[in-house]
Formats: sequence, structure tokens, C-alpha cells
Amino acid sequence: MNRGRDLIAREKAVIDAALVEVLPPVTAWPRRLHEAMAYAVQAGGKRLRPTLARCACAADGGDPDTVLPAVCGLELIHTYSLVHDDLPALDDDTLRRGRATVHVAFDEATAILVGDALLTEGLLCFSRYPEGDDWSERRIEATKVVAEAIGSRGMVGGQMEDLEATGQVEGTKATNSERLERIHRHKTGCLLRASVEVGAILAGTTESLRRTFVQFGEALGLAFQIADDILDATASAEELGKSPGKDEEAGKLTYVTLFGLETAREQLESLESEMLTLAGRIEGKDGDLAAIAGFVSQRKR
Ligand code: IPE
Ligand code: IPE
Ligand code: MG
Ligand code: MG
Ligand code: MG
Repeated sequence: MNRGRDLIAREKAVIDAALVEVLPPVTAWPRRLHEAMAYAVQAGGKRLRPTLARCACAADGGDPDTVLPAVCGLELIHTYSLVHDDLPALDDDTLRRGRATVHVAFDEATAILVGDALLTEGLLCFSRYPEGDDWSERRIEATKVVAEAIGSRGMVGGQMEDLEATGQVEGTKATNSERLERIHRHKTGCLLRASVEVGAILAGTTESLRRTFVQFGEALGLAFQIADDILDATASAEELGKSPGKDEEAGKLTYVTLFGLETAREQLESLESEMLTLAGRIEGKDGDLAAIAGFVSQRKR
């Protein structure tokens, strides 16, 4: 039995059902846009971000079901980032979550609008849920944390520098490694860290414990993208549900292209021990956050 994998599978079923509730119905106007949004969101995906938020919330004594509609927003925002990441002007990918990417299955203009709409609907989840005046302070704080994490100083900034670094061979190993860490901490790390942080905020965490949640989320965010780089270089399209080998082909700066597979694996292992130490401080060695840390470090997709 693998605790992390089982937890992810259990959470996925709950989150998939909730996503149907927060998404506009496919029959609503404008139908083509809503069909394309549902196509992108309901195509599978590990649902790691809402899972992290629910587990962080529970780790600090909150109710993961009360925060479920709010944290579905993380999955809508993450899916928007994938739809845009796959566009011809960015990574130009044709396969995502085991299906044709949105711009291939629909068209490029629709894929741009799907991203726009999912981003907006995602933030709406945080400003709307959990409902009731008692939650208003936590709702505002959670919305702010998520919005800051995904803007030009966060995820989108990381995507920008990822593009700027593509195909660039100049720079010493030291400057490239600093640059690469910054890219990963922003393009992938910010949203994963914010997922952990909003879970804690919605649970009503203390300032000092919130800092530990943030450190855990930061380590996990970097680890997750190092694993993504390793999988791009080593896994198959069937395992991944997306086309492997794209990073090297595109001349991307990644942990594998810069350091090689072995060193990338060592860096991932060292982040795993850091995550386990931090998770231990939050909820003991055998909690769900530790199980997710194990899953992220050993993931095969
Ligand atoms: C892929 O994210 C993009 C990155 C940020 C590395 P995931 O690996 O979480 O993708 P899904 O949601 O499971 O499809
Ligand atoms: C994607 O990074 C990061 C975001 C979508 C913000 P990648 O470009 O490495 O993700 P994959 O490999 O296409 O899933
Ligand atoms: Mg990319
Ligand atoms: Mg990509
Ligand atoms: Mg990748």
C-alpha cells in the first residue's frame, strides 16, 4: 500500500464531484466555451492543489468539506495555466491529461478564452466560499494570497522567465542554477505554496504555524517541478498523459538539462527530507502532508 497514492485517489473522487458543481453547466450560454472549459477540467489530472489545501486545513483542525468549494478554485486556476502553457505561442503541446489539448480539440482562440474564464471562475470560488459573514475575513485573506501567487510577481512571472530562458546557452552554471530555481519557484512553486497556505488560512491558523505551512509548500513546489523535469526526460506519453521529451527538444532550462538526471534526483531527495521535517512539525511524521510529500517525490505521472 502506498499512502500518498491512495490519499490522492480518494481525494480525486471527492474533488472531481465538487468541480462539476462549481463549473458553469455545459448547456449554459455560451455553450462552446463552457464545453471547452469542462473538457479541460474534467480530463483527469491529479487534483493535487485542492488536495493539498484540504489536507493543510485538516492538519490545523479545519473541516476539509467546508472549504471544498473554495479550494476547487485552485484546480480551475491550475487548469487555466495548463491550457495557456500548451498554446502554440508557449510550449506548443498537443497532448494533455491523456487527451488532445484544448487548442487542438477546439481552436486557439477558444483555448485563450477558456484560460481567461477559468482564471476568473477560480478567483470567484475564493471570494464566494465558504459562504456566510463569519467567513468574510478568511475569504478575503485567501483570495489575496491566491491572487498574489498567480500574478506577474508569481506564477505568470515564472512563465515569462521560463520563456526568456528557453534556448539560451550563455550564463555560467551558477547563474543558470539561480535563474532556474527562481523560474521553478514561481511558475510552479507559487500556486502549490498558496494551496497549502490557503488551507491553513481557512482553518484559522496562527501566524507562526502559517510560516511552517508556507515553508512546507515552498519545498513541495520546487520538488514538484524538479520531478516534472525528471519525468519529461524519463517517462512515456502513456504514463504521463502529456508528450515527454519536450524540454530538451525546446532547449528549456530544467534541472535535468542543467545538472543531469542523477543530480536532479539527489536534489529531489534532499527536498523530500526537508518536506518531511516540516510536515512533522505540523502534524507528526505520519500525517497526510507527509504522505503527499512522499507522493510528490516518487511520482510517476
Ligand atoms: C503539471 O501539473 C504542470 C506543472 C505545474 C508541472 P500537474 O502534474 O499537477 O498536472 P495535472 O493537474 O495532474 O494534470
Ligand atoms: C508549467 O510548467 C507551469 C505552468 C503551467 C504554470 P511545464 O511547462 O513544465 O508543465 P508541463 O510539463 O507542460 O506540464
Ligand atoms: Mg511551460
Ligand atoms: Mg509545458
Ligand atoms: Mg514540464
